[in-house]
Amino acid sequence: MSIKEKNFTNWSQNQLDSTITGKTLNNDCLNSLSELCSNSEWVREMAVQLYHVVLGFPFHIAGAIATSRDEKLLSILVNNLYSEIGENVGKDHISIYREFLYYLQLDCSRPEPNRLWKETIELEQSCKDNYSNHDMGVKLGALFAFESMSSRMVEKWHNALTVNGYPNNAFRFFTIHIDIEKEHAADILDVCAHYYKKPNFLDMYECGLSDVNSKLVNFWEKAYHYREECNCY
Ligand SMILES: [Fe+2]
Repeated sequence: MSIKEKNFTNWSQNQLDSTITGKTLNNDCLNSLSELCSNSEWVREMAVQLYHVVLGFPFHIAGAIATSRDEKLLSILVNNLYSEIGENVGKDHISIYREFLYYLQLDCSRPEPNRLWKETIELEQSCKDNYSNHDMGVKLGALFAFESMSSRMVEKWHNALTVNGYPNNAFRFFTIHIDIEKEHAADILDVCAHYYKKPNFLDMYECGLSDVNSKLVNFWEKAYHYREECNCY
C-alpha cells in the first residue's frame, strides 16, 4: 500500500469513526430514542418532520446527478436514485415511508410549512443546496455527512420502534435503509480517493460536511427538546 493510499485509508476511516463519536449521531435524542419512542405523540410528530426530509431526498440526489462531472460519482448517485424509486424492493422509498404514516394514522399529504420546525426546513434546504453545489468537495462532504449519519440513525429507529412494540411492517422504511445507507456512505468515500490530494478539496469538503452536520445537530436537539413542548413527559 502506498503512503498516499495509506493516508487516504486513515482519513476515510477517521470520517466513519467521527460520525459515531460526533454529535450528528452521538446526541441526547438518538441516545435516548427507545425511551422517547415510548411516547406515541412524540413518534407521530417525528414521523411528520422526517417525512419532509424523505420527500425531498430523491430530488436532491437528482440535483447532485445533474451537477456532477465525475463518472464514478454519477454511477453511484444513479444507483442511489434507482433504489429510491423502488427498483430494488419493488416500491419507491417515499411510498414505503408512507406505510409508517398509515400505521400512525397520519395524513400522507405534504406537511403544511407552518407545521414544520425551522430546524427541519433548514436541514432539508442544506441538503438541497449542498448536494447541487458544483464544487465536488462541497458536494461530497454534504453527501457523506447525511449518508453516514443516516446509515446509523435508521438502525437506531429500527431498534427503538421494535423495543416499543411497533410491528415490523410499520417501519420497513428504517429497516431497508440499514444496509443501503452504509454502502452509500462508503461509496462516497471511494470517490473522495480521487480528489483527496487536489488543492482545496479538503477545505471545500469540510464546508459541505460541516454545513449539513450543523443542521443535523440542530434537528436532533430540537427533536429531543420537543418532548417538553408537546408535554410528552
Ligand atoms: Fe431511500
